[in-house]
Amino acid sequence: MNEAQQPFRLLIENASKTYGAIKALSDVRFELRAGEVMALLGENGAGKSTIVKIISGLVRPDSGASIAIDGAPADISSNSLSQAAGIAVVQQEYSTVGTMTIAENLVLGQAHAPFWWGKRRLRENAETLLARVGLEDLDPDTAVEELSVAEMQLLEIARVLARDAKIVIFDEPTAALSDAEIARVLDVVKTLAAEGRSVIYVTHRLGEVFEIADRVTVFRNGRSAEPEDIDSLDVDQVIALMIGRQLGHMYPERSAGIGDPVLEVEGLRAPGLRDDVDLTVRRGEIVGLTGQLGSGTQAIMEALAGMQPRLGGEVRLQGRLVDLRNRTRGIEQGIAYCSADRKRNGIFGGISITRNLSSPWLPATARLGVVSTRRESERAHTYAEQFAIDIRRMQSSVGTLSGGNQQKVALGKWLGIEPEVLLVEEPTRGVDVGARAEIYRQLRELSDAGVAIIVSSSDTNEIFGLCDTIATYYKGRQTNLRPWTEWTEPDLVREVMHRKETVGE
Ligand SMILES: Nc1ncnc2c1ncn2[C@@H]1O[C@H](COP(=O)(O)OP(=O)(O)OP(=O)(O)O)[C@@H](O)[C@H]1O
Ligand SMILES: [Mg+2]
Repeated sequence: MNEAQQPFRLLIENASKTYGAIKALSDVRFELRAGEVMALLGENGAGKSTIVKIISGLVRPDSGASIAIDGAPADISSNSLSQAAGIAVVQQEYSTVGTMTIAENLVLGQAHAPFWWGKRRLRENAETLLARVGLEDLDPDTAVEELSVAEMQLLEIARVLARDAKIVIFDEPTAALSDAEIARVLDVVKTLAAEGRSVIYVTHRLGEVFEIADRVTVFRNGRSAEPEDIDSLDVDQVIALMIGRQLGHMYPERSAGIGDPVLEVEGLRAPGLRDDVDLTVRRGEIVGLTGQLGSGTQAIMEALAGMQPRLGGEVRLQGRLVDLRNRTRGIEQGIAYCSADRKRNGIFGGISITRNLSSPWLPATARLGVVSTRRESERAHTYAEQFAIDIRRMQSSVGTLSGGNQQKVALGKWLGIEPEVLLVEEPTRGVDVGARAEIYRQLRELSDAGVAIIVSSSDTNEIFGLCDTIATYYKGRQTNLRPWTEWTEPDLVREVMHRKETVGE
């Protein structure tokens, strides 16, 4: 029997989903064959996570949808029914329980792990699963809340591997990961497909699509296009399918001249760093930091933001010594810090876009403790427009926005303090290609206007394309610091990915 005659592993037809006035999905058709990797692509808000949630039984489609698995109608109207039907999902937001240990999280809700398993059995189970995602160095008794964003993401994948699923869905599994960890994830996906399982893979990183996908389905404004073989497409064609136009240049032109130092860091010492760090950011210069998990980039950003009380060294802004005793002092001195972790970043899902955007400066604009909502909304509006946030939804709670749009709110929020220094981790995490180009343009404009910008990113393509000066880190040490012109992109990838093998430890 050839492929065409076999029933689809999964076939969804006429799926719609309405949230009040918002049509998240309109009559979507989605098909998946046995043993294939299907990339699911589309702009922020296109409906990718919504269909993923329908397949995983977390969201119910409006009436009229039909869902079949292996040719037979399937009831996946709850998460447990979906799991019973052989479907497992790595969600875009984590579902691990922070206060529990890694070992406990790895058996949470898992049918294969009976409640009578003792501590040793739990540990062994955890060790095996952690090794499959490259986290063998972690102690299974660590509380999950102590992990970094990247570690949590890999743990989430380990959780899913514990299930013997025939359909495995990844919703942006690599958004917070660096190249070395991404390679792990892609290997996991290839193994799953080789075992005959079907994989649905949602991502904004198109390079990954060409590495692992057999076919792609593109969503646009809640509608699905016919799936296409990846072999018949190139990157520009995929982008055009997603955003309905050619993209042009992703990265803005670099500034003609780099000026005087704005931010000078000398002999910085902080927990997580094994050597002192020196860094200078000059006018018109964007400095990029990159490295693998645990490289120290996050420690530097947190220290410069004023989040590390045990600090050594000197930091000067326009020649003045800055006081980084705590985050409040940092903000007062004009240091904006947009962390990779949206939740830690103070993005509150339950409140409106306007209030999220205004939260860093709202107290300062109040007169005698009274906030002017008109001024608040005018100002929030300005920042929303700069970051391509849908201005019709300013009063919606941020939790109802798609993942990429939440990231735009996180970034837009910090513009409000009119920063002198902008520290950004993973600036385009989960952001679609079109909006990404827009964010890069904004960062370049701010830098040209004299804001000292440090970007830390696990995406080497972004670091290479955007930054004027690039520093790499490995296990708490700075390993390189040079102008971008002295790098090639393959050099940078090699430096970040293969550090382990070449240097050893
Ligand atoms: N609970 C909800 N209430 C209201 N609107 C919602 C809700 N969940 C999703 N939406 C809306 O449905 C649309 C589709 O969102 P979805 O999360 O599926 O997008 P996505 O393609 O996954 O985007 P991204 O790439 O940013 O993750 C968006 O407009 C989103 O704001
Ligand atoms: Mg999504």
